[in-house]
Amino acid sequence: MNRFGISLEKKISRSHEVFVGRNILDRAALLIAKGGWARRYFLVSDARVAALHGERVAETLRKAGLSLESVTMPAGEEAKTMATAVAVAEELLRRGADRASGLIALGGGVTGDLTGFVASIYMRGIPCIQIPTTLLAQVDSSIGGKTGVNLPAAKNILGTFHQPKAVFADLEFLRTLPAREMVNGLAEIVKCAVIDDPGLLELLEERAEVLRRGDDLDALLPIVTRAGEIKKKIVEIDEKEQGLRRILNFGHTVGHAIEAASAYTLPHGEAVSIGMAAALALSQRLGHLPEADGERIVALLQKLGLPVRLPADLDREVIMARMEHDKKKTGGVTHFVLLKRPGVPFVNGGIPLEKVGEILPRPERKTPRREKTGGE
Ligand SMILES: NC(=O)c1ccc[n+]([C@@H]2O[C@H](COP(=O)([O-])OP(=O)(O)OC[C@H]3O[C@@H](n4cnc5c(N)ncnc54)[C@H](O)[C@@H]3O)[C@@H](O)[C@H]2O)c1
Ligand SMILES: [Zn+2]
Repeated sequence: MNRFGISLEKKISRSHEVFVGRNILDRAALLIAKGGWARRYFLVSDARVAALHGERVAETLRKAGLSLESVTMPAGEEAKTMATAVAVAEELLRRGADRASGLIALGGGVTGDLTGFVASIYMRGIPCIQIPTTLLAQVDSSIGGKTGVNLPAAKNILGTFHQPKAVFADLEFLRTLPAREMVNGLAEIVKCAVIDDPGLLELLEERAEVLRRGDDLDALLPIVTRAGEIKKKIVEIDEKEQGLRRILNFGHTVGHAIEAASAYTLPHGEAVSIGMAAALALSQRLGHLPEADGERIVALLQKLGLPVRLPADLDREVIMARMEHDKKKTGGVTHFVLLKRPGVPFVNGGIPLEKVGEILPRPERKTPRREKTGGE
């Protein structure tokens, strides 16, 4: 039971509240109304999510007594730009949004990051609430207050820290999520399990088949809840990424390089999955991680339908060049998150990139990419 006497499946946080459950929108609406964070709200979503869920969500929020208008932005990572942020801000201004207004982001990580960014700078900052609709956003991007937009040469390079007032993750949204987006989110869940929770790792192993099918929301609920708790806990200890928060980058050093080398045609979760396989191999090679542990996690990734080898059309040299490039941007140091055993990660800033080159997983044999076959 929360302080308004409304029972929700799970209340995670203390600072900004994270609610996870099924069919929690009615109750979310009441909590937002009672929260009193703003007098007027603007529901920001991308065109796709607006068409699928916008009307229903807007109606539910209005029924709870909120003054609410909808603002739509284009869908996709390409839209996560300063130009879109300015367009949303101009629309807010045209409609008379002021310091007593608040934004509600309804959508995936793109919508959440961009809306949070606009909220953080509009009239020097107005409140933001997150209603994440992708698995990735529910377990990762909506939690922790990182906001931002991309520049053509770099992702998330312009951004702020702006904590949401609350996060409401309703698993029912996932019913319309394409299978590939679902698998994408599972990669971040495996990451949370690997860096912080051997129990969650076991649960993922038990339920891998069901999770891959993606249609059993009851099986997913405790997993999304736990992954959200882990992200929340880590960012609460280290809000501005000065230390501990770095462990959330497990699999991301190589993963980001793969993502960039693929010109962002490979989804983030798939790139991170390959990156995690690389981080595990490196941990094994350097004698930190028993082989059996590494193999076990790689097997789980595969069972969930995630790739662990480079796509056939990406070679190691391109990825190494990208990592060299990223290294320059971070002051000449590449921080690697390695593993001693499940739940025990550590950060190593002293690994020469040649060592990484040696363990990069081999490309798959020349087979068509997954999106073309729709299968493996
Ligand atoms: N702020 C953070 O801490 C953080 C962490 C991780 C990732 N991110 C960011 O998150 C973004 C990726 O997020 P994403 O994977 O959610 O991408 P996304 O927001 O682009 O969503 C993916 C696609 O799914 C659609 N969609 C969303 N919800 C849907 C639903 N319920 N049914 C059907 N379709 C739906 C969207 O319209 C979009 O086409 C990246 O920009 C990344 O940088 C941020
Ligand atoms: Zn990630």
